[in-house]
Amino acid sequence: VFSAIAQAPEDSILGVTVAFNKDPSPVKVNLGVGAYRTEEGKPLVLNVVRKAEQLLVNDPSRVKEYLPITGLADFNNLSARLIFGAGSLAIQENRVATVQCLSGTGSLRVGSEFLARNYHEKVIYIPQPTWGNHPKVFTISGLVVKYYRYYDPGTRGLNFHGLLEDLSSAPQGAIVLLHACAHNPTGVDPTLEQWEQIRQLMRSKGLLPFFDSAYQGFASGSLDADAQSVRLFVADGGECLAAQSYAKNMGLYGERVGALSIVCKSSDVAVRVESQLKLVIRPMYSNPPIHGASIVATILKNSEMYHEWTIELKAMADRIISMRKQLFDALLQRGTPGDWSHIIKQIGMFTFTGLNSDQVTFMAKEFHIYMTADGRISMAGLSSRTIPHLADAIHAAVTG
Ligand code: LMR
Repeated sequence: VFSAIAQAPEDSILGVTVAFNKDPSPVKVNLGVGAYRTEEGKPLVLNVVRKAEQLLVNDPSRVKEYLPITGLADFNNLSARLIFGAGSLAIQENRVATVQCLSGTGSLRVGSEFLARNYHEKVIYIPQPTWGNHPKVFTISGLVVKYYRYYDPGTRGLNFHGLLEDLSSAPQGAIVLLHACAHNPTGVDPTLEQWEQIRQLMRSKGLLPFFDSAYQGFASGSLDADAQSVRLFVADGGECLAAQSYAKNMGLYGERVGALSIVCKSSDVAVRVESQLKLVIRPMYSNPPIHGASIVATILKNSEMYHEWTIELKAMADRIISMRKQLFDALLQRGTPGDWSHIIKQIGMFTFTGLNSDQVTFMAKEFHIYMTADGRISMAGLSSRTIPHLADAIHAAVTG
């Protein structure tokens, strides 16, 4: 009965790891998936995460019961405070419905299914370009995906004019997906003044903001600074959605821990919104896993551990910034044609190199360096050891 099933293509991001794993070369480098590596090229488990896990393991009162459909209450409250700020009026007024979800993707999926069922406008505007999974998540949830201009390949910066124009012509009430910080894949973010203009425009047209916050703390190294865009929108008292992931900022990739928050106009509405979120979650995966959320809650509620986390997070962000500088210098040294200053200007985990798909294929074949076909490289996958090799590859791809 299954003999006619077609072979599906690999995922545009996770498929890069599949190709990388098949390559026997000892010099191969995986710059595809956005996953942090140490200078030695190894995955990193934060010390503070290990400590939290020890505490959890040694606590005899901890059991493996089901969590509620909405997840761990402590985790939800602390996650909302992390993104909206401890002093957020929306939190104090109990206007936020937060549910624990399966990392950023799960939060986006639950949020968009909720909107498809309960919100009058089904169109969601997403940036061009955006994370490869966004259009898939929103389409399968029942929303209609449209794009707004975001990136200008000419300047390798923000196409702010195009962005405002496209959002101005969006239908009243449309949903708009915004990357809270460290835009993936471009590494290009609006300035705070530009965010304010975006906010004014969106509020004047009744557009509904849906933030994807996968890199809080990774862009600037400061958790508060990286949440400013979201807080700007919440401070005006209007509605918004925010999907949070702890994959990158706590290194909890495989634990699949994240949260969806929906900021409402009143606590009464928030209660009803939460009841509808439960109807989305229960038939999908019943209730979320307990371990990762317990780690996060342990860290967020203990001021010493929280402080330790911010230091480890800053160290990861700083290492990425140093990789940017080293790669830029290596290309300058080689006299590689072109302006490469965007490598040091862009922020977050990725550089949108401007390399085309032929050059990407060439670098995988000749240099065993793997990246997504759009020329995005994960700076977090680089080390001082691999930078000369990457610079040689880029130089050869550009001059070849
Ligand atoms: C990425 O963009 O590389 C990450 O968000 C990982 C993923 O799931 O695609």
